[in-house]
Amino acid sequence: MLSTQISIENEVTLRNLQAAFEGESSAHARYIAFAVKADAEGLHGAASLFRAAARAEQIHANNHARVIRQLGAEPAAAIHPAAIKPTLENLNEARSGERYEIESMYPEFIREAKGHNNTAAVRTFEWAMEAEKTHARLFSEAIAVLESGWLIAARNFYVCAACGYTSETPESERCPTCNLAWEKFEVVR
Ligand SMILES: [Fe+2]
Ligand SMILES: [Fe+2]
Repeated sequence: MLSTQISIENEVTLRNLQAAFEGESSAHARYIAFAVKADAEGLHGAASLFRAAARAEQIHANNHARVIRQLGAEPAAAIHPAAIKPTLENLNEARSGERYEIESMYPEFIREAKGHNNTAAVRTFEWAMEAEKTHARLFSEAIAVLESGWLIAARNFYVCAACGYTSETPESERCPTCNLAWEKFEVVR
């Protein structure tokens, strides 16, 4: 009886977790494809950024999957193939996707999960949303300087292994979102 009540209470949260899992899994695949395209165009810095963001989305998908399993379900995602365009368009599309998640999807999912006191779901959604803010900013910067040269050279990005927070500089002692020690960040190039 209790487990039935729990599953009904978590029904919407679970659906949202699956939607987020699918979104992050698709974003991971899309950004890997965008990185290949950027390298082919000689825009290796943009490729580095796409690879870093792809790694972060994979971390989000894994975090969402863990909570889905805690709720007694199996993570399931259909990966939608991406249309690969020139890198400037891919950067714009990537930024649009991040903005949707920051402004609409995750705030709604967080509100719903808070309403059911599902702290594990709230945390995985909040961590992802904060990381998506770093991605939106980095994509914006890349769009602004596409012609200026720094996208030509491959470069390091730093990705929090716990929450996916992504930075272009190794500046913090700890992750500003989840407090993970800086030494545990992954360097993606
Ligand atoms: Fe992202
Ligand atoms: Fe983090």
